[in-house]
Amino acid sequence: MKAKTAKESLSITTKVVLPNDTNTLGNLFGGQLLAWMDVISSVAAHRHCKRVVVTASVNNVSFQQPIDHSSIITLEAKVSRAFNSSMEVFVDVFVENPITGVQIKSNEAIYTFVAVDQNGGPIQVPELIPETDEEKERYAGALRRKQLSLILAGKMDPKDADELKKLFL
Ligand SMILES: CC(C)(COP(=O)(O)OP(=O)(O)OC[C@H]1O[C@@H](n2cnc3c(N)ncnc32)[C@H](O)[C@@H]1OP(=O)(O)O)[C@@H](O)C(=O)NCCC(=O)NCCS
Repeated sequence: MKAKTAKESLSITTKVVLPNDTNTLGNLFGGQLLAWMDVISSVAAHRHCKRVVVTASVNNVSFQQPIDHSSIITLEAKVSRAFNSSMEVFVDVFVENPITGVQIKSNEAIYTFVAVDQNGGPIQVPELIPETDEEKERYAGALRRKQLSLILAGKMDPKDADELKKLFL
């Protein structure tokens, strides 16, 4: 199976925050943003492996500032590392200044997708080759985050999390 670069999975979408997307304060509803992030990151995971993918976990979601209605926001998703059947995807969200057009980062999240066959069982995905400094940094931390996510999901015994333990030793 041929390895792929991170940029081959890059997926970008732009949204306008409409009234139906807002909370009672008139800002973007967090659940709506999560749904948009889920969709664009699944596209990135699909572009990496060209198979059906399902969301296995959502971690490190940050809502740093409220996003006003009528804002133009851009979501960028890219696979940061592929394991056996799972892929970690980073989503970066930017809000556009309506006057200057300058984009400021407002949110980030890390999704894990698993490629599945017609029976819903996990299947092998291609390796990922990081190229830029940021891609290499995210790749290096992905195994640690995978182990933490598995521990939180009750799927890994903390004493087996070798990569995570290196943080504390
Ligand atoms: C995701 C799913 C296919 C995993 O199936 P499973 O039987 O747990 O399979 P495994 O234990 O072999 O795990 C498969 C991979 O997922 C990874 N994984 C599973 N749960 C994870 C979690 N919480 N965080 C990170 N990775 C996870 C495993 O580490 C493994 O990765 P690897 O093959 O790259 O090493 C299965 O749990 C599922 O179908 N979940 C529902 C998905 C869904 O419907 N999502 C939509 C949101 S409701």
